[in-house]
Amino acid sequence: MREITAAVLENKRIAENIYALVFLTEEEIPVRCGQFCMIGVRGYPLKRPLAVCKAEGTRITVCYQIRGGGTKTLAESCKAGEKISVLMPLGNGFTLRPEERRIAVVGGGAGVFPLIAALREFQGQKQLFAYMGFKNKDSVCLYYEMQRGEKLVLCTDDGSRGVKGTSVQAFLSDIGAVKPDAVLACGPLPMLRALKSGTKGLDIPVYVSLEERMGCGVGACLVCVCNKKDGTHARVCRDGPVFRLDEIEV
Ligand SMILES: Cc1cc2nc3c(=O)[nH]c(=O)nc-3n(C[C@H](O)[C@H](O)[C@H](O)COP(=O)(O)OP(=O)(O)OC[C@H]3O[C@@H](n4cnc5c(N)ncnc54)[C@H](O)[C@@H]3O)c2cc1C
Ligand code: FES
Repeated sequence: MREITAAVLENKRIAENIYALVFLTEEEIPVRCGQFCMIGVRGYPLKRPLAVCKAEGTRITVCYQIRGGGTKTLAESCKAGEKISVLMPLGNGFTLRPEERRIAVVGGGAGVFPLIAALREFQGQKQLFAYMGFKNKDSVCLYYEMQRGEKLVLCTDDGSRGVKGTSVQAFLSDIGAVKPDAVLACGPLPMLRALKSGTKGLDIPVYVSLEERMGCGVGACLVCVCNKKDGTHARVCRDGPVFRLDEIEV
């Protein structure tokens, strides 16, 4: 991990309430899918964690949903040509074992962004079946990036695009046909809970990236601590953000 000053190439709206920020690093920094960066926002002492969505040489793309003051300021005030402070790469990222060949990728909302990095990294190496959920047709973005696998099921809560319902519902109704060896997932906590109960007892490892609130992003402040099933605790920034879903409390 290092702290760098990156040059913003663009910061543009790609869907309702969602922006893509593209920046250039001075030299290529190896990044694995599921790893994230802490992005400095003008006027905010704490950087904000965002998953790396695309890493193409020195060109890094993160995509973000406006949630509160930090992301709103980022969307409104960060312009091309500006320099931003970035800590990266952070976290463990998604790892698949060689015997895990058929992979279901289940994302909801802003959780699709680290999974796009996974689709890009594992394309051609694994058989990928993607189930991606959004609020409505206006919040769907990066459609072409989600199409990298054997199959894509696009879902919206209101049915205005794709299948009506959640990505977890779509995945669970397909699980018998797809027979995944493993699942990669990211999304809001209710989604992860539904995935956990839906895959209980099936003996399919579910690797989930947690999007906890963070302070430092490097293991020092303990803001991001989560509870593990064995009674211990883990720092999401340092020990994660990717965990096996059956090993953590969600
Ligand atoms: C490893 C990691 C990767 C992430 N990747 C992405 C990404 O690729 N794209 C993206 O859009 N978001 C991502 N997030 C979430 C993103 O970091 C938060 O949305 C952002 O920090 C909110 O900052 P803010 O100043 O806009 O909101 P704040 O003003 O800090 O908070 C606004 C509201 O949102 C709630 N909130 C803030 N952070 C979170 C959170 N992490 N989870 C749930 N509720 C929260 C607060 O409690 C508050 O109610 C990621 C988080 C982590 C930990
Ligand atoms: S954010 Fe500070 S320890 Fe994880």
